[in-house]
Amino acid sequence: MLEMNRQEKQILQSKLLATMTPFEVEVHWPLIEEIRRLKKEKNAVLLVHHYQTPEIYHGVADFVGDSLGLSRKAAEATCDRIVFCGVHFMAETAKLLNPKRKVLIPDPEAGCSLSEAITVEDVRALKAKHPGAPVVCYVNTTAAIKAESDICCTSSNAVKVVDSLKSDKVIFIPDEYLGQNVARETNKEVITHPGHCMVHEQFTVADIDNYRQEFPGIEVIAHPECKPDVVQAADYSGSTSGMIDHIAQSKSKKIMLITECSMSDNLRAKFPDRDFQVPCTFCPHMKKITLEKVCRSLKEDVFEIEIPEAIAGKARLAVQRMLEIF
Ligand code: 13P
Ligand code: SF4
Repeated sequence: MLEMNRQEKQILQSKLLATMTPFEVEVHWPLIEEIRRLKKEKNAVLLVHHYQTPEIYHGVADFVGDSLGLSRKAAEATCDRIVFCGVHFMAETAKLLNPKRKVLIPDPEAGCSLSEAITVEDVRALKAKHPGAPVVCYVNTTAAIKAESDICCTSSNAVKVVDSLKSDKVIFIPDEYLGQNVARETNKEVITHPGHCMVHEQFTVADIDNYRQEFPGIEVIAHPECKPDVVQAADYSGSTSGMIDHIAQSKSKKIMLITECSMSDNLRAKFPDRDFQVPCTFCPHMKKITLEKVCRSLKEDVFEIEIPEAIAGKARLAVQRMLEIF
């Protein structure tokens, strides 16, 4: 096994020290080394979402990304195992796109308030009420909901996916606010369902106003799962990777990220010259993934994602349609 050389160790430790005390780094270090060793032994790749904690994000990830970027990485993976450090729907999407690989999630209880907000019966009722309208499902849905949908989208391509459809009316599920934010940018009629992200729905325009008063000139960046008035009060809105690309080309020194709080922690190492202000609003589902559970997942091959083929075939089509166009 190739161990980290001194320079690699120093780089990694300096990233961790951007948000941790030396003592915390010391506490995490043995598991970081163990996981890196196990990844090689088990021929596994670790896909890590931007909302994971820094010890996972900087310490053990092979690839970090937003839902779209990680789906693409999952589709391309040639290793024996994919360990998904994110939430269940993300690991399920990885399995749909690469069914031959063993896809593991370190905690199967890592869910999502959006994916829990809609049932197959709800989708069928919407289709019956709006016959002929295609169904666009946000990637934050179970495979069973994807199987009922015509095409999938993520926060980085939702407007393009909706615009790509011939129909003047589309059913957009399950994120009501994302649907409303998309509707502002297209000429189509967008039918929504009342599902919300439990993290992003907490932010208000008053939060933004208060920050702007306290830190004049601060740039406000919001995820499109926020309420429409919050997105409109922000200077920029985009997927988690879209936010990072935007920050990379922005000259702002003070930035307010209206999203899950680990994202700011992770970006402090990437953009040490910026000052990130963030109301600490964390996703309890994302935080179910810990170094201990990642280590167990690799050692014991748990918890494997399995999707019945009757659902997987149709769900895969919806995701592949999206990847073929965007
Ligand atoms: P992104 O695709 O922008 O990373 O969003 C995923 C998510 O769950 C945001 O809450
Ligand atoms: Fe779901 Fe919101 Fe958590 Fe993202 S942040 S995984 S949308 S609950």
